[in-house]
Formats: sequence, structure tokens, C-alpha cells
Amino acid sequence: MRAIVVPTPGDSSAMRYTEIPDPVPAPGEVLIDVAASGVNFIDVYHRIGRYELAPPFVPGSEGAGTVAAVGSGVTGVSVGDKVAWVNITGSYAERAVIPATQVIPLPDGVSPETAASILLQGMTAHYLTHSTYHVQPGDHVLVHAAAGGMGLLLTQVAKLCGATVIGTVSTAEKEKLAREAGADHVLRYGNFAEAVKDLTGSGVHVVYDGVGAATFEGSLASLRPRGMLALYGAASGPVPPFDPQRLNPLGSLFLTRPSLGHYILTRDELLSRAQDVLGWAAAGDLKVHVSRRYPLADAKQAHDDLESRRSTGKLLLIP
Ligand SMILES: NC(=O)c1ccc[n+]([C@@H]2O[C@H](COP(=O)([O-])OP(=O)(O)OC[C@H]3O[C@@H](n4cnc5c(N)ncnc54)[C@H](OP(=O)(O)O)[C@@H]3O)[C@@H](O)[C@H]2O)c1
Repeated sequence: MRAIVVPTPGDSSAMRYTEIPDPVPAPGEVLIDVAASGVNFIDVYHRIGRYELAPPFVPGSEGAGTVAAVGSGVTGVSVGDKVAWVNITGSYAERAVIPATQVIPLPDGVSPETAASILLQGMTAHYLTHSTYHVQPGDHVLVHAAAGGMGLLLTQVAKLCGATVIGTVSTAEKEKLAREAGADHVLRYGNFAEAVKDLTGSGVHVVYDGVGAATFEGSLASLRPRGMLALYGAASGPVPPFDPQRLNPLGSLFLTRPSLGHYILTRDELLSRAQDVLGWAAAGDLKVHVSRRYPLADAKQAHDDLESRRSTGKLLLIP
């Protein structure tokens, strides 16, 4: 099969479009013909080696398609089923092998392409707004990079929870998208904490920060007493070491560094978050903005677009 392979971690040219042997499902595994693979910032962290994977590896943490074969002992999944998965690497390929316990069945009416566009980031938005900090009606919420893949979904889900959403973005085009997703106020990054305090009085209840190094200090300064900073990524680079004592004078703040994997620990939790996200999508409550579909061979271009802040919403690779 054709796949993207990273023989040695590095810049986007480290990704090779090449022929590798078809994977074979072991007992308990499912072979999937990939219809679409979601591009996520974590794929960049894997590619550059910030999160280590043993090379050579096939990147890609989210995909969807049709079951082509099942290993021995697999029950509840059959050849021909439309399914998706998140948080397991190997989706930048024509075929992928996934443990049956991680397979998410797709309901009628949700295409594999829609699932690959919405599941990883939608389930992240779900746990951030329902479990890490449970957003309540009337809360003020700050969402950084509000026109990104995560940002557009987080904004919509926080609005579904009844919050007032303040977004940050870098360009006028991104501001328009964030407003269309429901953001009540959209700011540029310069002095954003001051603007947030002007808008809210005492600050926001929660900041969802996937930008990291560039926004961290401003995020802390945007919170009201006892507010929470959910630092869920580092698109601009990792946050330097931090003294927890600083949380005290800033208002007894909470700081967490959450990951999707720890919020889908059981099959029930995986399926219930997926069901909510796919249900919102089917009902039209959650809209996905696919900004570009790339042939699998153009994975390098997709990464270049994501890393250089040119992209908005979701990027897909189509094998
Ligand atoms: N912890 C989890 O469970 C989890 C799960 C999914 C994603 N994430 C994290 O969520 C974040 C967003 O991921 P995504 O895939 O949806 O990407 P994305 O938001 O579509 O793209 C990154 C965006 O970050 C902003 N940004 C600010 N400074 C940047 C810089 N120096 N370099 C690159 N981008 C910069 C840009 O928006 P502006 O131009 O508007 O600033 C850019 O478009 C990432 O940090 C990712 O790791 C975490």
C-alpha cells in the first residue's frame, strides 16, 4: 500500500510518500481501508520528535473508513462497517490496523470523511468543556486560535453550553470564521489579557490555550480568581518551567495540562464522547469547516500550511 513514512524525525521533508507492505490484523485487531485521515497538530509533534515515536513510523492520529478484515476473536465489528478511530498513529496510509476496542462505529448519515474531520478535535472540545472544566451558562470563556481546527469546534461547543466566548486570532479572515462559529468577541493577540479584563470586569472562568509559549502569561492574566487555565497544546512552542506559587497571588488559579487519551480511558467513555460529537454534527449543532483536502502524497504541504498558520479549520488527507 502507499503510505507516508517518517524514517527519522525532522522538518516536513522528513515525510516520505512510499510503498510499504499491507498491514495484517493480529488477534483482536481490525484492518481499515482509510477513506480520510485528519491532520492534527500532534502529527507535527510526532514528526519533529517532540512526542517520541520509534522510527520508522506512519504518522496520523485520526482516520475513518471501511473495515476490510478482522483478526481472530473480534466481535461486534464486521467487514464492510464504516468506522473511525482517534489517538492511535498510522492514519497517513491507504490501510491501517486498529485494536477492535478502539474502533468507533459510525451511525447512518455520518460519512467517514465527516468523522475524520470532527472526531479527534470534537472529542477534545467535548472533554475540555464538559470534564476538565464544566462550562456553565453565563460563563466567560477564552479560546485561543479560535479559527483553527480546535478553536472553531471549542467555540461552538462552549456556545452550546451557554457561555460568552472570547476568541483570539491572527488575521481578519480568521476573525470572520471565529465570529461565524459563534464567538461573541474576537481579539488579536497583542495585549489580549487587558482587553479580556475590559470585556469581563474580573476575567474569564476558563482559558483554553493550545498555543502555549506565546500566550501562557497572558492566559494566566486573563483569569478571574479561582479560574482555570487548560493548557492543552503548544502550537507556538512549549511553556518554560513554571513555579506553582505564582498561581496564588494571581487568584488561587487552577492550571492543568490535559490530553485526550486520559479522557477516553474506557470504551464507554470513548463511545459516549464520540456519540455526543457525532450527534451534534448530525443535528447541525456542530459544523465542521474543512478548509482543504490534500492527496495523501501532499502530507508535507498540509503540515507546512498548519505550522505556518496559513490554515483554518480542518485539514484532511485523502489516500
Ligand atoms: N491536549 C489534547 O488533548 C489536544 C487534542 C487536540 C489538539 N490539541 C492541541 O490543540 C492545538 C491546536 O491544534 P489544531 O490541530 O487544531 O491546530 P490549529 O489550531 O488548526 O492550528 C494552530 C493554530 O495555532 C495558532 N498559532 C499561534 N501561534 C502559532 C505558532 N507560532 N505556530 C503555529 N500556530 C500558531 C494559529 O492560529 P492564529 O494564526 O489565529 O494564531 C494556528 O492556525 C495544538 O496545540 C494541539 O496540540 C491538544
